[in-house]
Amino acid sequence: MADLIVTIDGPAASGKSTVARLLARKLGASFLDTGAMYRVVTLAAIRAGADLSDQRQLLDVMDESEFKFSAEQDKMLVFLDGTDVTERLRDRQVTDNARYIASAPKVRQKLVGMQRVFAATELKIVTEGRDQGTVAFADADIKFFLTAEPAERARRRLAEMPAGDGLSLEQVQSDIERRDKSDRDRAVGPLKPADDAIVVDTTDLNIDEVVDKLFGFVKEKCLKDG
Ligand code: C5P
Repeated sequence: MADLIVTIDGPAASGKSTVARLLARKLGASFLDTGAMYRVVTLAAIRAGADLSDQRQLLDVMDESEFKFSAEQDKMLVFLDGTDVTERLRDRQVTDNARYIASAPKVRQKLVGMQRVFAATELKIVTEGRDQGTVAFADADIKFFLTAEPAERARRRLAEMPAGDGLSLEQVQSDIERRDKSDRDRAVGPLKPADDAIVVDTTDLNIDEVVDKLFGFVKEKCLKDG
């Protein structure tokens, strides 16, 4: 297992990915975007024409697909059957259907297993998702939970969409709130802070301020000589 495991959980568009990437760079750690794992299984299942509500079919798709996650220092590339699909994973169809994959217990179990294998091969990792501090890495060295007001998260998500994808701020916010609800309400690996997580509200902070804050906590708790 990695010497240093930092987990960052939180709701959609709370800034987890960007913060995790930048924090990983500062720490010389690899970055694991677990949302991309749920997304690539969603993409594989859609392409295979599977019934997304049928866990057996999802497991079959997983068995028949070849997934590869390549850890770069500040990004993660995702390959499906040998093709780089990183750019496809943010498509709306994938985002809208990921909840089926996220609520299938055996699929989650497999993905958590893959996340632990990834951690076993890296020296230091910063991993982000919904259940990293509660399920996948309950013994992590330090755990964060990022939050932000839904309206602010919608504003940030809209700003990163190409030409806004033609969506209004209200539509983006209602999509985000629907995803939050489905993430919070599922029986397995629900979205919630670990008991020992440091909760950081990022509503009024910019990315650099959040990264500096988290880096400060990591230095204090984990990097004795840093
Ligand atoms: O973080 P991102 O938006 O890329 O995640 C895509 C979907 O994958 C989320 O809506 C969530 O339902 C699911 N997910 C999860 N557990 C994780 C990471 C993501 O259930 N650890």
